[in-house]
Amino acid sequence: MAVHYEEPTRLFTLETRGSVYQMKVDAFGFLLHLYYGKRTGENMEYLLTYYDRGFSGNPYDVDRDRTYSMDALPQEYPVWGNGDFRSPCLETQMKDGSFGSDLRYQGYEIEEGKYKLPGLPAVYGEKDEAQTLKIYMTDDKSGLKVTLYYGVMPEYDVITRAVELKNQGQEAIWLGKVQSACLDFLQGDYEWISFYGRHAMERTMQRVPVVHGSQVIGSRRGASSHQYNPFMILTAPDTTETNGECYGLSFVYSGSFKAEVAKDQYNQVRVSMGLQEERFCFELKPGQTFFAPEVVLAYSAEGLGALSRQYHKLYRYHLCRGKYKTIPRPVLVNNWEATYFDFTGDKIYEIGKHARELGIEMLVLDDGWFGKRDTDYSGLGDWEVNEKKVGGPLKSLVDRINGLGLKFGLWVEPEMVSEDSDLYRTHPDWAFAIPGRKPIRSRSQLVLDFSRPEVVDHIYRQISLILDNANIEYMKWDMNRSIADVYSATTAAKNQGEVLYRYMLGLYDFLERLHVNYPDLLLEGCCGGGGRFDAGMLYYSPQIWGSDNTDAIDRISIQYGTSFGYPVSSVGSHVSATPNHQNGRITSLQTRGVVAMAGSFGYELDLCKLTEEEKEVIKLQIKDYHKYWDLIHNGDYYRLTDVTKRRDLAAWQFVSEDKKKTLINLVMLETHGNPVTSYIKAAGLAPEKKYREEKSGRTYTGAALMYGGLPVPQAQGEYLSYQFYLVEV
Ligand code: GLA
Repeated sequence: MAVHYEEPTRLFTLETRGSVYQMKVDAFGFLLHLYYGKRTGENMEYLLTYYDRGFSGNPYDVDRDRTYSMDALPQEYPVWGNGDFRSPCLETQMKDGSFGSDLRYQGYEIEEGKYKLPGLPAVYGEKDEAQTLKIYMTDDKSGLKVTLYYGVMPEYDVITRAVELKNQGQEAIWLGKVQSACLDFLQGDYEWISFYGRHAMERTMQRVPVVHGSQVIGSRRGASSHQYNPFMILTAPDTTETNGECYGLSFVYSGSFKAEVAKDQYNQVRVSMGLQEERFCFELKPGQTFFAPEVVLAYSAEGLGALSRQYHKLYRYHLCRGKYKTIPRPVLVNNWEATYFDFTGDKIYEIGKHARELGIEMLVLDDGWFGKRDTDYSGLGDWEVNEKKVGGPLKSLVDRINGLGLKFGLWVEPEMVSEDSDLYRTHPDWAFAIPGRKPIRSRSQLVLDFSRPEVVDHIYRQISLILDNANIEYMKWDMNRSIADVYSATTAAKNQGEVLYRYMLGLYDFLERLHVNYPDLLLEGCCGGGGRFDAGMLYYSPQIWGSDNTDAIDRISIQYGTSFGYPVSSVGSHVSATPNHQNGRITSLQTRGVVAMAGSFGYELDLCKLTEEEKEVIKLQIKDYHKYWDLIHNGDYYRLTDVTKRRDLAAWQFVSEDKKKTLINLVMLETHGNPVTSYIKAAGLAPEKKYREEKSGRTYTGAALMYGGLPVPQAQGEYLSYQFYLVEV
């Protein structure tokens, strides 16, 4: 049993393999958070202390007791309005203009299996894998009923949270802020890890002390964003990759979000995560229900590496879905960096011919195949093949490619519209724009109002026509701008604060229909590369294009940051041309291959221009990738170096679950005359097992590889890379 309730003490205890989470209902019906961390075998209520604290008010119920303050006690779901002046999870307003609510406990329910959220992505788990706890709270005055959802997956060592709000009153309630989860810590110094970036340089890891005041990340872009990823970690200051305590919070949502960590006047720390509150305002009419998306919490007492592996496993097996969840995904070639918009059907076929020769399994036709689309100024919204360019119906090109023995994949950007398109000329009001103002253009395109079901339906019909008429086995779903000018022509003016949330429901509805109606389709998420790389998208697309930056060295940092919260199998990663198109760097084909293999592997360069020598290297790479595939996708991932600190090299490792096989990857970042020797220490192996390294034939004990390490070969050249494949003997 993962969820326990103890009646006399009204104590809730959630247990996973390595953690315990406790909360209790107090004498007044408030739900207090008690503890989340290493298992203690104890009721942790004794940690709470009560003192008369100036300027921290007291609820009316406690009468003359000035030691009881919501401002000081740890809350399970803090609201604005009950005397807690810290950052709340919930802010409501009533018709009379008053703000605030006062939530009191009503009861609970425990169910077998993991709860689902209507219209929203969520981790899933069967009855023997998960338990659900629902705690019911109500606010008497407004009639608001709040259900706190907890999904406990003991073996995966995670607890998920989500919130349902129902208006059981007579009047509308306006939701101004709804966070999905919060953790109150009574004590401790902490550091905070977040992942910032920009287009083509996403998810750079940043670790800073938690200070007094509030530290916030988030997105107001309508997508989770390149700039801040909806994932963060709270750690003890001495926590490392392999030791120490840390907590992860991962948002299963792809739109605007907010995540906050704040240290209060009593040195207590509150972390919270949920929807972006700025310009959010949801009118909950009597009888209506609202769902706040899920946050996945994980705790590790064994450092950041273990925490990451908890997320990797969970997301691989209990978030990603579809045929390609666990089977090998085809090695692909994408024509974008090979041709950009400048291609014909024959050119694509030529690339296909070379692809087949090399052992590539799928060809992906990127942007430019539809409507009037030879530049990024026009065509979006007109999802009909440009037969002149492609050389006939799409089916004929797909058949030709299939005839080569390759699968066929296609790029789309369904949420967008160009002003120069038939769709925009017919339905200008389908694009977001503020009445009386000119819209913000970005990449010369506007955003379709996916909060409107008729818009979603129309685009869905067009996309499904394409899928129905040709053998398309993969689709790259792109989204190439941030959403500004949020104004839906069908929503009454005062409700514009709902539009971005409803937009996400529209998007998820579209993606769910694709998932149900095209179960064999492999979907790759994309948003100018990694601008919507989040757990929400992984529910629909088991892989996401990691970044528009394909340079191997920049990718090391991007993939390093990504690995903290997301499995390697989820990162689309390609070998591209050199000098690299984004930064001009020159790296060897070998190194580009090693880096791209830390992901869902493919190529993105003009195969027709390869030399014979390059072709041989690629053939070998693909063979290697097939050999390593299971290890890479389903194995345990270890970061061997901190790329924000170690300058000489970057290294990472895959270890099979049975610890019989491992692949150590490393890329040299510096080169010097008379160089010092670098060493790299492996991780995650069985110390007593003996492993043979494939190329040298040498055997080592796991202990030697982990505690003594391997000397890195010395050779001349920039950005050299090595893979050591070791198998138990
Ligand atoms: C985005 C994607 C690229 C490519 C282009 C096409 O930038 O991230 O991979 O598909 O759009 O326009």
